[in-house]
This record gives sequence, structure tokens and C-alpha cells, in this order.
Amino acid sequence: MNDTFLKACRGEKTDYTPIWIMRQAGRYLPQYHTVRSKGTFLDLCKNPERAAEVTIQPIDYLGVDAAILFSDILVPLEKMGAPLDFYEKRGPVFANPIRDKAAVDKLVIPDPEIDLVYVMDTIRLLRKELAGRVPLIGFSGAPFTLATYLIEGGSSKNYFETKKMMYTAPELYKALLDKITDCTITYLQAQAAAGAQALQIFDSWAGVLAPDDFAEFALPYVQRIIKAIKPCGVPIIYFANNGATLLDLSKTSGADVLGLDWRVNIGDAIARLGQDVSVQGNLDPIALLLPADKLEKRVQAIVDAGKQARGHVFNLGHGILPETPPEKAKLVVELVHRLSGKA
Ligand code: CP3
Repeated sequence: MNDTFLKACRGEKTDYTPIWIMRQAGRYLPQYHTVRSKGTFLDLCKNPERAAEVTIQPIDYLGVDAAILFSDILVPLEKMGAPLDFYEKRGPVFANPIRDKAAVDKLVIPDPEIDLVYVMDTIRLLRKELAGRVPLIGFSGAPFTLATYLIEGGSSKNYFETKKMMYTAPELYKALLDKITDCTITYLQAQAAAGAQALQIFDSWAGVLAPDDFAEFALPYVQRIIKAIKPCGVPIIYFANNGATLLDLSKTSGADVLGLDWRVNIGDAIARLGQDVSVQGNLDPIALLLPADKLEKRVQAIVDAGKQARGHVFNLGHGILPETPPEKAKLVVELVHRLSGKA
């Protein structure tokens, strides 16, 4: 197996810098649209054959060093009892936002092998179809990020309702986050048992919190998850988006790898983090549009800085955008491999 990605996560020496791309299976790829046009986004998530097919598309086309399960961070919330829809322009919508004790009390902890068996079946199918070509990453959302969707009822600009609950009803907030945390622990444990070889926790909106609030209202739940899933024995990646001011705190998450968004200089981040943790990142997704010579310089700078880390997995600083020409994604993979000395 190409285990370069797993080695970099664990801080072992690698022959070159491995790369995968957040949202690598998705709308920038014409071949994704072909499969996606057969039904809704949620239909696709719930169909193991098709979900596996789109997971493998970027492995074939881009030549990345890891596959990431095709699913969404929000699917377990649906099975906690919060009906979920995805709309073309608006994104995800929870029609019944969770804002009071009655609503929190009603949420249940799903059994992953029953309620989310389609995810586990996709993982099992992928391990068979990948046949050791590259490792498979499973994932979840972090409790704070998941809670924002449940409390706001969808995407948000100011996170008013979430912060209002944090500040004015901290016990209710804690009860909700504890439930999401319990759900996430069993969900990630089940993914590892089904065959996921690394687990990434996406904290997409952590960056909207002041450091003290991150320490009180987000980080403890991430720490609890990581402690509980560590015995699964697979590398754990924690990605706190827009988290440059939260790096020292994130280091205490217990993760093997910290994801870096593009707003932080990767060399500075490595100097701050030291040698106990590997890093993942961190090219601005829109920098893929740079002319080839300028893109090469940026990639070289990140690859070189990454050599100072315990381990470095190249990635974008957030998900690749649907408007990106697919050949630019392919180019960045070739550049990372060539510039880091892949034979
Ligand atoms: O990375 C991958 O290739 C694996 C698949 C994956 C998706 N979503 C597929 C998806 C992963 C890992 C996610 C995680 C996810 N989902 C996050 C965390 C990562 C991040 O971007 O910060 C978040 C916040 C979500 C929630 C979500 N899902 C939103 C806000 C939206 C709508 C807006 C958008 O970006 O499209 C989605 C939909 C979604 N998730 C799509 C895909 C391919 C588009 C659905 C479509 O085909 O119409």
C-alpha cells in the first residue's frame, strides 16, 4: 500500500510529501456531476456503490495519496432526530432548529451499524475497491461546528443563536454538546472498525470563537472525542478552520495531526507547534488559479516549510471550490510530488 500519508501523520520519515485535497470528491469534477445527477446529494451519500464511486474518482484522476469517504458531517445529526435537507443555493437546512431543553432531550444517540449502516457499508466497500492503493480517511464534524448547524438551523453569518445559547443558557448548550460528542465518539469508533485508516475531525467554524470561548465551549468536547477514539489506533487529524489564533490550544486536543488553513504561515505554525504533532495544509484553495510558475513557487515554499515539521501532509487550507478547473487540482498534486522528490 502507498502508506506515505499514514507515515507523515505518525511523524515517520517519508520519501516525499503526501497530498490529498479537502472536498476532493465533488463538484469541480465533471465525473462527479455525472453520478450526482442520478439523485439528490443525500441520496448519493446513502448509496454505498455510488458514494464509493465518487470517492475513488479523485484517486484515479488526481493521483492523491489518500481517499476520503464521500459523505457529509451532517448525516449523523439527521439520525439524532433532526430532519435535514440540502438545497441547491442555500446549502444544508434543519427545519426544526434545536434551541430549548425539550428539543435537546428528544435527540437520540444513533447506533452507527444500524442507523448509519450506509456509511459503514461505504467504508467496507471502499476498502475492498481501493485494495490498498491508498489509505481511506473517515471523518466527522467537531461538536461545536455540528452544534452551529443544529442551533442556527443551517449555515450562519454571525452564529447569533449559537453564541446566545453559550452565553445565556450554558447548561443547555453543554447538554447539547455532550449528546453530539457521545454520538460522534460511537460514529468514529464504528468508522475505524469498518476500515477507516485515519479519522479527520472538521471544526469548520471554530475560528468564530474567541480563544477563551474556544477553550471553554469547543475544545473540551474535541479532547473527549480524541481520548475515546485513540485506542482505535488510527491517526487523528483535527482541523480548526480559521484557527491561527487557536493553535496553542488546538495542540492540546490530542490529535496526531493539526490541519492549518491558509491564513497562517505554515513555517510560523510549525515553529509554534514544535515536534509533537504533524501538520496538514495549507495552500489557499483559490491560489490554484495562479499562473503555473507562481503556483509552483507557492507550493515549493509550503513543501520546504513542511520539512521542518514532525510530519507534513500537503492539503489546501480549506475545501476545493466548485469553480476550480480540475486540471489545476491535478497540477498541484504533480507539483507537490515532484518538488518534494517523489521518484
Ligand atoms: O472531502 C471530501 O471530498 C469528502 C466529502 C465531504 C463533503 N462534505 C461532501 C459535500 C466532506 C468531508 C464534507 C464535510 C463538510 N460538510 C463540512 C466540513 C468541511 C468544510 O468544508 O468546512 C461542512 C461544514 C459540511 C456541511 C455542508 N455540506 C455544507 C455547508 C454544504 C453546502 C455548501 C457546499 O459547500 O456545497 C454541504 C454539501 C456538500 N457536502 C457537497 C459535497 C460534495 C455539495 C453537494 C452537492 O453535490 O450538491
